[in-house]
Amino acid sequence: MQDLDAIVKDAFAVFAGINDADELEQTKARYLGKTGALTEQLKGLGKLMPADRPAMGARINAAKDELEQALSARREHLQNVKLEAKLKEESLDVTLPGRGSGVGGLHPVSRTLERVEQIFHSLGFEVADGPEIETDFYNFTALNQPENHPARSMHDTFYLQGDNAGGKHLLRTHTSPIQVRYMESHKPPIRIIAPGRVYRVDSDATHSPMFHQVEGLWIDERISFANLKGVVTEFFRLFFERDDLQVRFRPSFFPFTEPSAEIDMSFGDGWLEIGGCGMVHPSVLKNVNIDSEQFQGFAFGMGLDRLTMLRYGVNDLRLFFENDLRFLRQFR
Ligand code: DAH
Repeated sequence: MQDLDAIVKDAFAVFAGINDADELEQTKARYLGKTGALTEQLKGLGKLMPADRPAMGARINAAKDELEQALSARREHLQNVKLEAKLKEESLDVTLPGRGSGVGGLHPVSRTLERVEQIFHSLGFEVADGPEIETDFYNFTALNQPENHPARSMHDTFYLQGDNAGGKHLLRTHTSPIQVRYMESHKPPIRIIAPGRVYRVDSDATHSPMFHQVEGLWIDERISFANLKGVVTEFFRLFFERDDLQVRFRPSFFPFTEPSAEIDMSFGDGWLEIGGCGMVHPSVLKNVNIDSEQFQGFAFGMGLDRLTMLRYGVNDLRLFFENDLRFLRQFR
């Protein structure tokens, strides 16, 4: 009988020292398995006097129950320990402040666009719009550049493939076609700007295949080159917030204006080209049925990306279109 108590005592101590569920199950076999200590005791019953067997059998079974109970208590304990650890690991501190959703910001070119629209609005201009997929007619022909006109090679044009829509389609190379569309559907006086994306086959630090322009157009009975100079100069001074900013009009050529000029602005010790302009060519007015004897006016086109680069001191145009948040966040 001493044996039985010793086995139970030993088993309790062993179970209590085990910290791993698998190990516990393996250890169980040492006592209750086929060749386990308690099982051996049961086998020994046969050697006892028949009269002693029932009492001894009952004691062994009681010992077995005790071991089973100890085992399941330990199992439960180990499970709780595991659960505690897991809960601790996954704990959620509900008192922490929320992460918040990131606050977005306008793209620098969009900021420029808003600014440009605001300034021209204050000068009495409305905003007009037009399609980015244009026809050859609006992009070139109506702007006084018939087919085979040498000026067409000034623009490296993206043409659309599989075009069976009747006329040749292309990605507009400038915002000037909006002039034509607007004059087709509106009678003078006309005073608009038309901003938007334009496309050319070109790509380097200062050229992107997609970029932004803003077109300007003022047609009325007595609009002169002096008005053109006044409006453009006023715009640049307001845009760059510098009253002493100098603007220069350098003679140039555009098929849709006569006379034509490049717009340069003073920059450091030199000049920087920022757009083109001129008095709308009588042929363009004729194409949209406006009497060029009665009405005349000026047009201009300039690069919005260029304006943005100058205003914020950005030296690589491609940064605007790579969508690197480290760059874009600086403009929030
Ligand atoms: N469309 C011209 C270009 O992209 C820019 C331009 C020049 C627009 C003269 C005009 C203009 O309206 O009068 O190169």
